[in-house]
Amino acid sequence: MSKSFYVTTPIYYVNDVPHIGHAYTTIAADVIARFKRLQGNSVFFLTGTDEHGQKIETTAQSNGMTPIELADSVVTRFQDLSGLLNITNDDFIRTTEERHKISVEEIFRRVEKAGDIYLSEYEGWYDVRNEAFITETQLEELMAIPEDKRPKIEKVKEESYFFRLSKYQEPLLEHYKKHPEFVQPRYRLNEVVSFVEGGLRDLSISRTTFTWGIPVPGNPKHVIYVWFDALTNYITGVGFPKNEEMFNQNWPADVHLVGKDILRFHAVYWPAFLMSAGIELPKTVFAHGWWTVEGEKMSKSLGNVVDPYQVVDEFGADVFRYFLLREIPFGQDGDFSKSAIVARVNGELANGLGNLVSRTLGMIEKYFDGQVPEPEELFEDDKNVRDQALAMLDVFEKEMDEIAFHKALVTLWDYIAYVNKYVDESAPWTLAKEKNEARLGTVLWTIVQAIGVVTILIHPFMPESAEKIWDRLGCPESINSKLLSDAKEWGIAKSGQLVEKGQSLFPRFDDK
Ligand code: MSP
Repeated sequence: MSKSFYVTTPIYYVNDVPHIGHAYTTIAADVIARFKRLQGNSVFFLTGTDEHGQKIETTAQSNGMTPIELADSVVTRFQDLSGLLNITNDDFIRTTEERHKISVEEIFRRVEKAGDIYLSEYEGWYDVRNEAFITETQLEELMAIPEDKRPKIEKVKEESYFFRLSKYQEPLLEHYKKHPEFVQPRYRLNEVVSFVEGGLRDLSISRTTFTWGIPVPGNPKHVIYVWFDALTNYITGVGFPKNEEMFNQNWPADVHLVGKDILRFHAVYWPAFLMSAGIELPKTVFAHGWWTVEGEKMSKSLGNVVDPYQVVDEFGADVFRYFLLREIPFGQDGDFSKSAIVARVNGELANGLGNLVSRTLGMIEKYFDGQVPEPEELFEDDKNVRDQALAMLDVFEKEMDEIAFHKALVTLWDYIAYVNKYVDESAPWTLAKEKNEARLGTVLWTIVQAIGVVTILIHPFMPESAEKIWDRLGCPESINSKLLSDAKEWGIAKSGQLVEKGQSLFPRFDDK
């Protein structure tokens, strides 16, 4: 069996409930997973939660809970996102699981065996919120921030195990050179390269001042640094170290999706740990941008944190999914606002797609008792609708393979606009008046085929709507069984099958 396509999201801290940032990466990963399945690949899609570390321990304490009680109470909010947003993850990993402990211990031992771990003393600063040791330059930057706005940092002096990160400076630079696709988008690679060129110091990978973590094998006074623990989830999730068959089937990961703030951990530390342990490196780390909310940074103190449960309640999962991936080029920052969602719904979903589907199916109900008509001779215009679809499919596929969601959606919506224009120009209502049944049937048959193609392509983005349209087209098999290659066969909707116009797919929102 050929290797599965393996896609991951970051694992989320359980000291807080999910917000738009979490939903964003998870939705993006889901669209990739669904699209890869559509191409005929077997896929493994992993998400989960990061449950160890000082931050979780402190948050639990201040809530009068034990860390595991906190984790158990928050984790369901993350697990329930899958149902809420129609996420098709194959597994959900929690770093407090036994399988993960075994995996972290194993990779730690391998790295130790490679001679890359030594005991020394760490003296410096630690950023608790980001669970990161702070370099001299970072400290200067932090000190420039007014004290009340500055993230909480702590002076640390303790015995610590170190990882010989410095040893991997050259091998990492070589890897980036040989595999420039390792960090995407491309402009992010430069940041990573200059960070590494700036010099890598050995990394403290254990702590003794708190206990909420996986103990260092052989020295339980120390717990393993939370990022060493967390990054390892990506191999635990595919069976490391015990299930070799599953591991070989899935590893290396094809893409780790991450936010830009955690790129360094994924593109520098993680590959260094893997090199040391003698494990293959993931193929790509893709860093996406950050959302602001109505022009402002999202933060608890501003009280503007976007709750995915609320957005879905108001707009539905499909609209949320579509908006997040259409609004900004994947990789760049963007702004979230209700007015921006409403503009997309009214302009693109209701007017563009919804209108095309409802007027077409309405006319088939009216003129052909709901049965998809037989086509007669195809004219130039009809053939163009088909040829444009085939050309569009190629571009769409290429853009999806590049993880350029917004481009793929623009490509698809340009085609929808083209088909809507074809409808206007062919004017089926006039053909009906003229009793030109042959032309009327051919035109409506053509439009229905175009809708079939569009439906298969929107399925990864808007699964609920695609299933609805598919049912209304009267297609017998489930859309889930359809492949991209089926979309390339012009004639998905068979003559004679029964369509149903149904209720409006995307009701318009009042702009106010
Ligand atoms: N636990 C670590 C990841 C470990 S992965 C081995 C972590 N967790 S997190 O819960 O704090 O953040 C998860 C993700 O949310 C990050 O990828 C981060 O970029 C993303 N976002 C947080 N706020 C965001 C926005 N405002 N906009 C977009 N994404 C944002 O980091």
